[in-house]
Amino acid sequence: MEKPAVTDYTINPAIAKRWSPRTFANTPVAPEHLSSLFEAARWSASCYNDQPWNFIVGTTETPDTYNQILDCLVPFNVSWAKSAPVLILAIARTTFSHNNKLNDWAVYDVGQAVGTLAVQATSLGLYLHQMAGFDPAKAVANFNLPENFKPVAAIALGYIGDLDGLPEDIKIKELQPRTRNPISSFVFDKALS
Ligand SMILES: Cc1cc2nc3c(=O)[nH]c(=O)nc-3n(C[C@H](O)[C@H](O)[C@H](O)COP(=O)(O)O)c2cc1C
Repeated sequence: MEKPAVTDYTINPAIAKRWSPRTFANTPVAPEHLSSLFEAARWSASCYNDQPWNFIVGTTETPDTYNQILDCLVPFNVSWAKSAPVLILAIARTTFSHNNKLNDWAVYDVGQAVGTLAVQATSLGLYLHQMAGFDPAKAVANFNLPENFKPVAAIALGYIGDLDGLPEDIKIKELQPRTRNPISSFVFDKALS
């Protein structure tokens, strides 16, 4: 299923095509495609070029890791994300490597890396669904993360599946139109009143 953005201005086709499905096909993602996604993330910009992003990747080839990520998700997210052939945990290193001071931009940089990865994914016919609905404490425990590693988001990745067999509440969400606030509501040429 496609749900292209209805745009007021022309944008890159991969950005318009990206959306966050909750149903995935049972098709594995080729290792070279996975590598392309992380290559895209790698070339993202970051504060001090510190590259604070880290990704733990679980696939059907690595069921222990896959299940440890699945185990962190809230029940609603488990209900649909378990159809994805790849689950990823995006993690920020919250201290700069050059001086060990707190990096207030680490989470920003991880988000930007995932945004870059998402565009690359779309251009390969892949889709991802990011999730805040997971237990960060469980992620820290399951993966023995050091104190300065902050789990930021879980991500389900794969090829889009079909609607057949989906629970009715999720089917309704999948069919809902994608909406956005107008540009005028978030771009300003003067102080916000
Ligand atoms: C940081 C972040 C956290 C999100 N958390 C969840 C989540 O826990 N569960 C879920 O079903 N969708 C989650 N979403 C998906 C958003 O609901 C979705 O991106 C938004 O509705 C816009 O839809 P689109 O991505 O299809 O354009 C999350 C997205 C982001 C970026």
